[in-house]
Amino acid sequence: MRNMRMSLAPRRAVAALAAVLLAGSVAACGNSDTGAGGGGGDDKIVLGFSQVGAESGWRTANTNSIKEAAAEAGIDLKFDDAQQKQENQIKAIRNYIQQKVDVIAFSPVVESGWDTVLKEAKDAGIPVILTDRAVDSADKSLYKTFLGSDFVKEGRLSGEWLVENSKDATGDVNIVELQGTTGSAPANDRKKGFGEAIAADPKLKVIASQSGDFTRAGGKQVMEQFLKAHPKIDVLFAHNDDMGLGALEAITAAGKVPGKDITIITIDAVKDGMQALADGKFNFIAECSPLLGPQLMDLAKKVHAGEEVPPRIETEETTFTQEQAKTALPNRKY
Ligand code: AHR
Repeated sequence: MRNMRMSLAPRRAVAALAAVLLAGSVAACGNSDTGAGGGGGDDKIVLGFSQVGAESGWRTANTNSIKEAAAEAGIDLKFDDAQQKQENQIKAIRNYIQQKVDVIAFSPVVESGWDTVLKEAKDAGIPVILTDRAVDSADKSLYKTFLGSDFVKEGRLSGEWLVENSKDATGDVNIVELQGTTGSAPANDRKKGFGEAIAADPKLKVIASQSGDFTRAGGKQVMEQFLKAHPKIDVLFAHNDDMGLGALEAITAAGKVPGKDITIITIDAVKDGMQALADGKFNFIAECSPLLGPQLMDLAKKVHAGEEVPPRIETEETTFTQEQAKTALPNRKY
């Protein structure tokens, strides 16, 4: 109502001021488009990220790392949780293509079946970054780079530790294996690496191998079945800490002592897993780092700017014995 009563002269002054402000803001946009503005609201890189789900402690740490790193890097993150379903990931990627985001990144729940949607992103001119898990597409031009761990190596390191620590065993060493999500890169590769390493000692025998879907509930349920079906289990190789932690409950309920009656080897080294290792319930962990956020944001900036990036970037990792876990645990970030 007050504006209605303004005289003509003040109204002209307001219009002139608005024009100056508008011209200034257009100029500011132009500067940041050329990279001179740095972090202005509208010129932020938009990154569409499709996450596998929330199946494990590792995944939670990975999601946190990506969200924190995006905020830190001034990247506008669009995040989708696929609840471990490939169809949800494909839907999310198609939405990102429709929204014309600048970069798409995703952690593929399984290895196969991505070519069509990746081609759609390529045809739309949107660069794609794979994080954590690989795809089996023969056409490597469908994505710019793959950032993540060497899962075969993690399996191999686990198997090599077992070979070394079974030297004095007499007779067969019966191993049960809790696999990750069927068809996923970490399940396929960890199984392969472990199998290759234990082939060095013929007394090491995998007597049962089944998926626990990378979850605690899955690990517990499948371990219960293993314990019922096999009276002599010497070793459990679990493809991640969470399944190993679920299996602990089943082993204890069956009246056996985890870490003593049954040697337990897992992968990840998240806090709960490291605690179990330090407590003597696990025997060995091969690390898989979930802290991929900062590297992912760096890559998103580079591919958006049209810079060349290496086709494969491997995460640096280590392994832990019980003694090493006790030392490392107080400084563990996840
Ligand atoms: O892809 C990484 C694997 O997925 C982690 O080892 C596991 O914990 C997660 O669910």
